[in-house]
Amino acid sequence: MPKKKVYIETYGCQMNVADSEVMATILTENGYVLSNQIDDADLLLINTCAIRDHAEQRVLGRLDLFNSYKKKNKQIKIGITGCMAERLKDSLFEKKPFIDFIAGPDAYRNLPDILNTVETRQREIDTLLRKEETYEGIIPTRYNSNRFSAFISITRGCDNMCAYCIVPFTRGRERSRNPKDILNEIETVANDNFKEVTLIGQNVDKYRFENNGTITGFPQLLDMVAEKFPHLRIRFSTSYPQDFTEEVVLVMKKHKNICRYIHLPVQSGSNKILDLMKRGYTREWYLDRIAMIRKHLPDCAISTDIISGFCDETETDHQDTLDLMRQVRYDYAFMFKYSERPGTFAAKHLKDNVPDNVKSRRLNEIIELQKQLSLESNKCDVGKSFKVLIEGISKKSDAYFFGRTSQNKIVVFPKENAHLYDIAEVVVTDYTSATLLGKLV
Ligand code: 5AD
Ligand code: SF4
Repeated sequence: MPKKKVYIETYGCQMNVADSEVMATILTENGYVLSNQIDDADLLLINTCAIRDHAEQRVLGRLDLFNSYKKKNKQIKIGITGCMAERLKDSLFEKKPFIDFIAGPDAYRNLPDILNTVETRQREIDTLLRKEETYEGIIPTRYNSNRFSAFISITRGCDNMCAYCIVPFTRGRERSRNPKDILNEIETVANDNFKEVTLIGQNVDKYRFENNGTITGFPQLLDMVAEKFPHLRIRFSTSYPQDFTEEVVLVMKKHKNICRYIHLPVQSGSNKILDLMKRGYTREWYLDRIAMIRKHLPDCAISTDIISGFCDETETDHQDTLDLMRQVRYDYAFMFKYSERPGTFAAKHLKDNVPDNVKSRRLNEIIELQKQLSLESNKCDVGKSFKVLIEGISKKSDAYFFGRTSQNKIVVFPKENAHLYDIAEVVVTDYTSATLLGKLV
């Protein structure tokens, strides 16, 4: 009998990319083959994000498209997984009655059983959040990602309970994977000639694994990984200001193969808003963390996440955010309009009272400022040379490659005698706010 084909579409964060790979492994071990063609699959999966309303609306649109295939071929099954599945649970069956199954982020090991049920024409749902599930023992198939860089999940879940965030509700309690399992997984990708790994978790600084009285924290894990795999580039994400330690920065300093890049989400530059957000740190604390990073790693790039228009945000609070951005001189930022998520502390206890047009205007000011800061940061790179991991051929011209520096900046340069996925030495000759231009040294 020919194997069934599964098509997987992934939205949201790196964690979801890693989770889709876990699902792909489980499915291929259970009689499926992966397909990248939506019009040639027996099972259509959508792995979703719930972080903003906008992300969910897009998924609803994609589900309707999936259904148009199912209408033509009744044998097709449709499954929704991930954070939106977890958040909306069986109400999704009412919204989109053509869905065959709903599986939350801790239910993927159960996929074979779920599919068995679905085969007998019954709907199935598993949105149970498990305290222990880390997908231990599953070495993900890297079908989704490129062939040179892999996401390795080290923690799951989040206990922070920031007022605006749905993640603790969709991904459950914090858990850390066994370091042995993590090292094994990295060994596999290193043997497959991957050049880079990113250790991922909602809050990597909370990584903590206890075995016979020995505790491995994030700095120790990072040190072990960098030591054991000197030829791999190591990245990690996401750090949390409250838990981010000097020890981590010292481990980075010790190892050249750990990339000079830290993503440290600030969310707001106003102490009043940080307090309302329940972030647990102040602007001063955050700036002190930045100073500590700069002291040890002057060549380290720093990026952040910013939310505009959180509850009760005034013009002064907004100015505080712009001012903090100027002080830090971020190299890059991910910037969002606040989107109220049902069930969160903010939805229950605070008023989403900044009008949408004000949120948008503030967001635009934040984006404009970041453009300037990125431009200034890139200008400083002119004349310097960087080791660049070549990731692909430039979209604008076949004669150019693009790649990434240790600082996570994109560089475009003429191919000459370089090869895809090599690490090349490139000198920066020009820049825009989004890209560096250079040539091979
Ligand atoms: N509205 C807007 N942005 C949000 N984020 C998280 N929750 C929300 C929300 N309700 C942003 C934060 C976080 C990033 C992943 O998404 O900036 O760091
Ligand atoms: Fe989206 Fe957050 Fe879930 Fe990632 S963890 S998929 S960002 S809601």
